Amino acid sequence: MHADGAGPDDLPHLAGAADREFIELLSAATAWWATQRTWQVSSSHTGGGVIAAFESAVADSVGSDVRALALPSATAALSIALEILGVGPGDLIGVPAVDWTATGAIAGALGARTMPLPVDPDTGLLDAGQIARHGAVTQDLAAVVVVHLHGLGCDVPALRRALPGLPVIEDAAQAWASHYPDGRPVGSASDACAFSYGAAKSPNAGELGCLVTRTRTLHQAAVARSQHPTRQWLTGIACPRRDQVMTRVAPAAALLGAYVLHQHLKLTPELRQGGRLLAQALAGAGLPVLTDATRHAPGIVAVRAAPEHVRLVLPTVFLPEGVTVRVVDLADVEVHPGYSDEATLSALVTGITIITLEPPGAWGQASVLVSRAAVTDCQNG
Ligand SMILES: Cc1ncc(COP(=O)(O)O)c(C=O)c1O
Repeated sequence: MHADGAGPDDLPHLAGAADREFIELLSAATAWWATQRTWQVSSSHTGGGVIAAFESAVADSVGSDVRALALPSATAALSIALEILGVGPGDLIGVPAVDWTATGAIAGALGARTMPLPVDPDTGLLDAGQIARHGAVTQDLAAVVVVHLHGLGCDVPALRRALPGLPVIEDAAQAWASHYPDGRPVGSASDACAFSYGAAKSPNAGELGCLVTRTRTLHQAAVARSQHPTRQWLTGIACPRRDQVMTRVAPAAALLGAYVLHQHLKLTPELRQGGRLLAQALAGAGLPVLTDATRHAPGIVAVRAAPEHVRLVLPTVFLPEGVTVRVVDLADVEVHPGYSDEATLSALVTGITIITLEPPGAWGQASVLVSRAAVTDCQNG
């Protein structure tokens, strides 16, 4: 495997490696699926077969009282979540002052506006205590989007207490299987939660998302906004809608999703142990670690340090068998341009490096390097 700093000259080799990763993953997923009970029709129209298997795996991880809906991406899931919670043109949505670009883009597409809310300057996560103290500021909000960055789990239960009655949506694109401080899984305390299994995520199914909702009404509203009329009808919608853009997931994407979730669950103890060992070594080298390996996303370690300092420590760590470092990257976040303390916050939250652990050869190890080399190529003209 190439070192992290792959360049344009490596592109053909990496592209071949990325293709091999994909073919191997697809073959393994297909072989695995053949051993499963396939009791339903495998169709994106009905939501059966692999789609149902993927959705059950997501719902099982979040809680017994939730419903999951497979969608092409977390972006699609977030957009549908805002719509089913009644956000529309002119509405104001509370978002963390530190965010990835998705929320702002989706709000803009819906004609809504965003208001930055205070975050913990160490992590960039929404700070429920500060929000509770500034309660009056939030009275005009139609909803709030909580973003779980860097594998961490924001305190959504505390936020709900700080903002009673306000619809809450979680963006857990970066935090599969992470937990709130009270130990419950992320996604379990909000009205709706979006997960991503895209190329840079862990686990990685290439391009896939899921929307988790807490009530049957919200689930049906999401199905009505995104699925084929047949699935709408099978979900109990007496008069299916046919008048909008549908955002169904392909069964092949759901197959990869179901498989990578299955693999990830099997490997969770090793990923957590690997995260613990890395955290110990980084802390021993004086680098402040933000993630807690026992409760945050398995296999994701966030550290306040530059990638080059982190890379010096990695060779000193013996990871558990079956686990390897997939990528070491600076966190890709922005400070909301309207935030009062933008400059200070920016200096604090843009220096976070994320280390992602995966099984050797997992899909994404070469693909991440391919996209990086392609960007370098493009930048060099
Ligand atoms: C915090 C966050 N939200 C949303 C998304 C969008 O996810 P997707 O690519 O599945 O649309 C990302 C993607 O990187 C993200 O990091």
